[in-house]
Amino acid sequence: MVAIKLTDDVFWIGANVHTEDLFEGIWPIPNGVALNSYVIKGDKIAIIELVREWGGAALTLLKNLESISIKLTDIDYIILNHLEPDHTGFTYLLNSLSPDAEIVSTQKGVNLVKAFYQIENNLKPVKTGDVIDLGDNKKLEFTEIPNVHWPETMVTYETNSGILFSGDAFGAFGVHQGCIFEDETSDESKPYWEEETLRYYANIISTFSGNVLNAIEKLSGLKINMIAPSHGLIWRKSPEVIVKKYQRYSNYNKDYAEPAICVVWGSMYGNTEVMLNSVLRGIGKVGVPIKVHRVPNEDPSFILSNAYRCAGLIIGAPTYEYSMFPPMKYFMELLRKKRITHKKVFYFGSYGWSGGAKKDFDNLAENMHWDILEPLTFNGYPTLEELEKGEKLAMELAQQVKQIPSKTKDENY
Ligand code: FEO
Repeated sequence: MVAIKLTDDVFWIGANVHTEDLFEGIWPIPNGVALNSYVIKGDKIAIIELVREWGGAALTLLKNLESISIKLTDIDYIILNHLEPDHTGFTYLLNSLSPDAEIVSTQKGVNLVKAFYQIENNLKPVKTGDVIDLGDNKKLEFTEIPNVHWPETMVTYETNSGILFSGDAFGAFGVHQGCIFEDETSDESKPYWEEETLRYYANIISTFSGNVLNAIEKLSGLKINMIAPSHGLIWRKSPEVIVKKYQRYSNYNKDYAEPAICVVWGSMYGNTEVMLNSVLRGIGKVGVPIKVHRVPNEDPSFILSNAYRCAGLIIGAPTYEYSMFPPMKYFMELLRKKRITHKKVFYFGSYGWSGGAKKDFDNLAENMHWDILEPLTFNGYPTLEELEKGEKLAMELAQQVKQIPSKTKDENY
């Protein structure tokens, strides 16, 4: 690998990790993930973000540095915008190889450097407004943006080039498809990035949507020429596009999302599945876009994406041992954790020996700002009347969803 130039003195030195591993030990990344790392050459040299030793990423970073004739002992500053180990796993080794480099992060970040890597030397805590002068007209200015994605998070702005090194903010899953910049991305690759950006947001960031909006507001005074996040594409020509996209995603937690319905269902012996077909027919009669997922057959990571982007959410799950079908209960717990709020919702499900799923549904739906239609539960195989009722309720939900205006506009690359 070789480093890639962002400007004459700023380079991408990261790695694309193609891996079967789960991100954060939870989320599948069939398209891998880019660990973006950068180096800035002034009179002094700073690295911003590292990698973890994952699929050869640390070696790649070293080779990228070598390609621009930077030795590890040349590094003066290691800037860690946040401490999640996908960006910092290499810190211990780099500290050993480059012991004079100062490790820069927020105070909470510095505390985590000690906790994660037992490093006590050359730690430099910074706060909002602090500046490190690299010389040769290059300065790094720091702004704390807590909880985008963990509490210690900051961003780094290089004042000469106007590059915002934004950490996880404005990131995406997925390895680069032959180019690291959004303006070099082919039309064929754009849907890939759309999907991987939304899935990254719904899996990793959505819990902190309010913090994302605060961060965007806080950074609005900066003249940003380029956004260089820690994952995904680098926004060189149109940084405002990814900002608008993240704003839109964040607002999905404050208002209804797009006029579409995500149907998530599970069935033990087919009784709930029979009702599912009536429900789908009802939606089809109204003509609203639909995404259908079955649990546990599909991974929640992908379902969360569609649950997040759709204003309508239908949950179909039976009772299992006095409570909700376990894979659906787990999925609903994720909906809560990820704050997938403000939905038009309908629940249906079969029960056999006893009920219980609806009680779990009610508990898990509490305080989610969901507008919930009358739930439909039935004993065993649904009767004709119950099937008609399911179809009618689905039509009612679809009609409500159809009225919701789409919020996707002005976001082309
Ligand atoms: Fe990519 Fe929050 O780490």
